[in-house]
Amino acid sequence: MHDMTASNLRSAYGGESMAHMRYIKWGAVAEKEGFPNVARLFRAIAYAEEVHATNHFVELRNESGAFSVTSEAGFGIGSTSENLQGGLDGEQFEINEMYPVYVEVATFQGEKGALRSFKYALSAEKTHAAMFQEAKQSVDGDKDIELGPVQICCVCGYTAEGAIPDKCPICGAPRDKFKTFA
Ligand code: FE2
Ligand code: FE2
Ligand code: FE2
Repeated sequence: MHDMTASNLRSAYGGESMAHMRYIKWGAVAEKEGFPNVARLFRAIAYAEEVHATNHFVELRNESGAFSVTSEAGFGIGSTSENLQGGLDGEQFEINEMYPVYVEVATFQGEKGALRSFKYALSAEKTHAAMFQEAKQSVDGDKDIELGPVQICCVCGYTAEGAIPDKCPICGAPRDKFKTFA
């Protein structure tokens, strides 16, 4: 694999792994503050980030060795409103800067596996940003969100509220590949 794509995969793996941990913690804060649906949203999206991290890690299967990994990641434990803003900021960085650049590099270098992994993530992050934004508005009005079951595709991290789709619209995975957070 080309060095630059491998390096981008490692950074993305680091970023997704840290997002996963952050959302688990922020979900616990939301639970404590009396926003159980926001807590469930954080847990569901944390799982989607785990899927992304795992996909990047799998793409690096033949790139063994120890590396220092640099990734942009937000820190701090604030109120649920602040934590949702933190989530939104992180997702927007991935949507507007990180993944589009990684996609361009992987395309240029002909790295098909990495390209797929980056595109899967980029697609889901757009949904995450929208969901965090909506949740923040609700929490700022001191109300929990209304939230049906949240479905996460275990193959690509596709995230949707409502019923399980017959087939993942992003990766084509069948229904039994979905994990439901209800
Ligand atoms: Fe992600
Ligand atoms: Fe995300
Ligand atoms: Fe999928």
